Amino acid sequence: MKTALIDPFQRAISYLRVSVTDRCDFRCVYCMSENMQFLPKKELLSLEELDRMCATFIRLGVKKLRITGGEPLVRRDIMTFFRSMSRHLDSGDLHELTLTTNGSQLHRFADDLYAAGVRRVNVSLDTLEEAKFARVTRWGRLPQVLKGIDAAQKAGLKVKINTVALKGFNEDELFTLTEWCASRGMDLTFIEVMPMGDLGGEDRVGQYWALDDLRAQLATRYSLSDIPKRTGGPARYSRVAETGQDIGFITPLTHNFCESCNRVRLTCTGELYMCLGQEDMADLRAPLRASDDDAVLENAIRAAISLKPKGHDFDYSRQRADGQMTRHMSHTGG
Ligand code: GTP
Ligand code: 5AD
Ligand code: SF4
Repeated sequence: MKTALIDPFQRAISYLRVSVTDRCDFRCVYCMSENMQFLPKKELLSLEELDRMCATFIRLGVKKLRITGGEPLVRRDIMTFFRSMSRHLDSGDLHELTLTTNGSQLHRFADDLYAAGVRRVNVSLDTLEEAKFARVTRWGRLPQVLKGIDAAQKAGLKVKINTVALKGFNEDELFTLTEWCASRGMDLTFIEVMPMGDLGGEDRVGQYWALDDLRAQLATRYSLSDIPKRTGGPARYSRVAETGQDIGFITPLTHNFCESCNRVRLTCTGELYMCLGQEDMADLRAPLRASDDDAVLENAIRAAISLKPKGHDFDYSRQRADGQMTRHMSHTGG
């Protein structure tokens, strides 16, 4: 392995999130607008290019690869890519190959994912009520996602649920969601809604539910103790004594975790975003296509990492005044 990727603030970059498509079969209100224009397919990196890109990052010290989207499982032939990535697990160069999914296609792919070396999946689920699920995803079908979660667990995958905390939407399901996850042996992570993309008339500020408040509500019923669990992700975890499950809190707005940031994000068109909440990015598609010599790509990656900013810039008060960040979550892969 080459020298590790170290950014200007002495943070080692060991986690690469790769968005393999900007498309999704849902249109969650906090993520996409209803009439999203997706990229022409020719703009996307091919699976072979994605493979070469990931292999290069792994050579430079990336140990954790999370495949995201859009919805990664709607990309055609995506299993070929997963199977190919498993060689890095076999060699020990990669420690974890995983994905974040909306679950809609999990029933079709759970066994193949396990066979490719995936052991954990994060499934996004904001409500257990069918009508509300259809509303927040704009047309998603909850039973299909539940079938996917079942299939994943049967295949041997450890499932973590990601729930975006939305005031006036899933506040009333806090305990139901927690207990449903506990009854299935699943951890649960709450995420503060971030001001990404196009609101499409949604009142994002009104939806914002600070996780300190959510945690305080949980503490009225459960004994929560902070635990030092690290998954390489940004969540801080508490263990629930009564259920034994771990609940994660991803709080980009109230307690940001930038000082320990270990990741960068590759978009499906080969742009490398150094931070979810900043616009700094580098085009890696050009050097990838310019030469078959991997040294060219390695140099471009190192140069990009040398520009990683110290932290993100989410601020609702300022963003209301200046207008919203226009980049969609599906572009950078969440
Ligand atoms: P684990 O491996 O289970 O720890 O996963 P993870 O939290 O790294 O990945 P996941 O895809 O489940 O991330 C959940 C959400 O956390 C993302 O979709 C984002 O909304 C948010 N998130 C992840 N990484 C960052 C980050 O670096 N900055 C910010 N602001 N949010 C992040
Ligand atoms: N704020 C917070 N989380 C978001 N996600 C998508 N858009 C947003 C947003 N604006 C979450 C999804 C999923 C993960 C990939 O990102 O719910 O769990
Ligand atoms: Fe699709 Fe996930 Fe965005 Fe929802 S949050 S529209 S499931 S990419």
